[in-house]
Amino acid sequence: MGLFFKSKSKDNSETLQNSAKVIAFLNQKGGVGKTTMAFNTASALANQNYKVLCLDMDPQGNLSQLLGVDVDETDAPQAYNLLINSIRELKGLHSPVLFQDVLVKGKLDLIPSGQALSGFELSVAGISSPRQMILKRMLEKTGILSQYDYVVIDGPPTLGLLVVNILCACDGVMVPFRPDEFSRKGLGNFYDVLEQIEEMGVTKIPQVLAHIPNLVDLRRKQEGVDLKRITQDLEDEFGQGNVVAPFLNKAPLVRSQAQKKSVFDYQSKEFTPLQGQFDQLAHLITSNNKWEMRSEH
Ligand SMILES: Nc1ncnc2c1ncn2[C@@H]1O[C@H](COP(=O)(O)OP(=O)(O)OP(=O)(O)O)[C@@H](O)[C@H]1O
Ligand SMILES: [Mg+2]
Repeated sequence: MGLFFKSKSKDNSETLQNSAKVIAFLNQKGGVGKTTMAFNTASALANQNYKVLCLDMDPQGNLSQLLGVDVDETDAPQAYNLLINSIRELKGLHSPVLFQDVLVKGKLDLIPSGQALSGFELSVAGISSPRQMILKRMLEKTGILSQYDYVVIDGPPTLGLLVVNILCACDGVMVPFRPDEFSRKGLGNFYDVLEQIEEMGVTKIPQVLAHIPNLVDLRRKQEGVDLKRITQDLEDEFGQGNVVAPFLNKAPLVRSQAQKKSVFDYQSKEFTPLQGQFDQLAHLITSNNKWEMRSEH
């Protein structure tokens, strides 16, 4: 871990000492931009020559679909199979697939997900080993961490066992949110879960790298007022600068998603500001110098 911030050579992927940092986009609220942010931030990192693996941890499979994969159409193996295979007690549910069989290679590598993942909680309900550590163990066992610089996880809009597994497995969390009154309460619940995990003492908890106001419409006065208040609260808690510049409601983002492209796949000027914003999110991740200060587990 201490070797993470060695001086950089031209090929960024050579500089990280073969232990991927795992970054998750989380918020139990639906439709706040988790998938959009995960996809475009992963694209920004890949653009900078980092080796990036996208891990879809949402049964809706939206990130997989953006990357051109729909496992529900094909019955192809998915993250669920790797998770279950990593649990010795569940031998009866194992399938003969390895990480390489599930991996979909592309501009961004992908471990896809689909509906099967919604059965995860039930499948592991009766096991005696710690249920919150399954994803972490899977990442270690499969050797994924030694093959990538960054693993970018897209989380589901829930606050159950899948999210607890993600929180126990990741190094950094990015939290997109819509700046309205409801989101204050939602974020509060989210941090309660994080605190509970910390109290369990079984693993380090991730660093909250950034809160990202999204789908902001500054023409609406109330939204500006709410955003200011939430920003103040969050920065009191997480430090100055933890709330990044807002992403406005932008038609080009919708268009690029519809075409299954990242904002970096376009040359036209209208995408330049969005590219800049996602580059900034990527920079937040790559320039973070607090990883090594966090306790080892
Ligand atoms: N800044 C933005 N401007 C315009 N549209 C956006 C923006 N961010 C996200 N969207 C659109 O909002 C919708 C929801 O975004 P997204 O799917 O990323 O949210 P999510 O949090 O992943 O949702 P879910 O909780 O269902 O997984 C998508 O159609 C997306 O294209
Ligand atoms: Mg999503």
